[in-house]
Amino acid sequence: GFDGKFYDINRALTPSIRMTISSTNTPAVQADDEWSPLKAVIVGRAGRACFPAAHPEMIKATMPTEHVHRFIPKNPFPKDIIEKAEAELDFLAAILKAEGVRVYRPLSGIDWIAEGGYTGAMPRDGLISVGNTLIEAPFAWSCRSREIKLAYSQMLRQLAEEDENARIVYRSAETFADTLINEPQDEKDQWVINNSRPAFDAADFMRFGSTIIGQYSHVTNQAGVEYLRSHLPVGYHVEMLNVNDPHAMHIDATILPLREGLLVYHPYKVTEDALRAHKVLANWNLVPFPFIPQAPEWPPLYMTSAWLPLNALVLDGERVIVEASDERTIKFYGELGMKCIKCPFKHVNSIGGSFHCATVDLVRG
Ligand code: NVA
Repeated sequence: GFDGKFYDINRALTPSIRMTISSTNTPAVQADDEWSPLKAVIVGRAGRACFPAAHPEMIKATMPTEHVHRFIPKNPFPKDIIEKAEAELDFLAAILKAEGVRVYRPLSGIDWIAEGGYTGAMPRDGLISVGNTLIEAPFAWSCRSREIKLAYSQMLRQLAEEDENARIVYRSAETFADTLINEPQDEKDQWVINNSRPAFDAADFMRFGSTIIGQYSHVTNQAGVEYLRSHLPVGYHVEMLNVNDPHAMHIDATILPLREGLLVYHPYKVTEDALRAHKVLANWNLVPFPFIPQAPEWPPLYMTSAWLPLNALVLDGERVIVEASDERTIKFYGELGMKCIKCPFKHVNSIGGSFHCATVDLVRG
C-alpha cells in the first residue's frame, strides 16, 4: 500500500511529471457514499485529549448525565485511557493499510489541554467529503473551533497539492460568532442552539450518493444545513431525517448503511417509515438493530450511549470494522453477509466514539 514516502517522492518531481502522475492516479478526494470500496481515509489521533469544555447547556443536552460534571476546562481524560486509545487508532490505521487503503494521519502529540480544545481523534465530526469537495464543519462547540486547523490543516494542504481537482472548503468567518446560546434558555425550544449563525457537525450527515441524509440536533441548526447545501458540488442535495432523539448529536449511531440496499438502524430513534420516506431508501432492506448494546464495565463511555456498534466503518459493502470484543454484533453483521474485521477500540469509544467517528473517508469507489 501507499505510505508517507510516496508523497515525498511525488513532491520532489517537477510539476509536469507530477501532473502526469496525478492524472493517472486515484484522486485525493472523491467519495459520496458510505459503502463503495474505501481507497483513502483519515484516521484521527488522540493527542493530549481532554473533556471538551463546551457551554454547560450544550453539555447537559448531549452528554451522559453521570459524566456531565467532568466537562470543565483543562480536565484531561485519564492518561491510561488516552495512551490505549492512541494505540488503538494506530492499530486501526495498520489494519486499513493492510486492507489496501491509503491512510492519512493528522499531527501527533497536540496538547489539547493547552489549546482549550478536545482531541484530534474524532475527525468525522469536523470534515465531510462529498464528491471532490471536503467541507470543514462550523462546529457549534467553540472549544472545537480550532480542531481541524490545528491537527489537520497540514494534511488538507497536502491533499490539495496531490489533486488539483480536490476542493477544500474551510469554515468561514461568520461561523465563529459565539451567539448560539440564548440566555436564559427557553424550555420550549427543542434544541439548545439558536439559528443565529450556521452550525453543524459533519457527523450529523450520511452520504447516499447524490442524496445526503442529515438530522437537526443540539449541534446542527437550519442555518448550518443551508451552509452545507451552499457548499455542495452540483448535483447533490440534503434531506432531513425525522429522528426521535431529545439528546441528538451525530447521526452515526442511529443509521448504518452496510452496503447499497441494506441499512441497519436504531429502532428507538428512528422508524422504518421515517427512513422509507426518503426516496433513496424506498426499496432498501431496512433492518432494526436486534438487541440493546451493553457498555463495558471499563473504560466508561464518557460521551456517548452504548449504541456504538452502529458506528462501524464499512470498507466495501462486504467488509466492516467492528470492536474486537463485540461478539454479538460480529454475529449479527455476519448474518447479514458481512465479513467483520476485528479491531480493539474500547478506549477510543471511551473518549467519544467508534470507527466511524474516528475516520473520514476521502476516496471511495
Ligand atoms: N450521540 C450519539 C452518537 C454517538 C456517535 C450517541 O451517543 O449514541
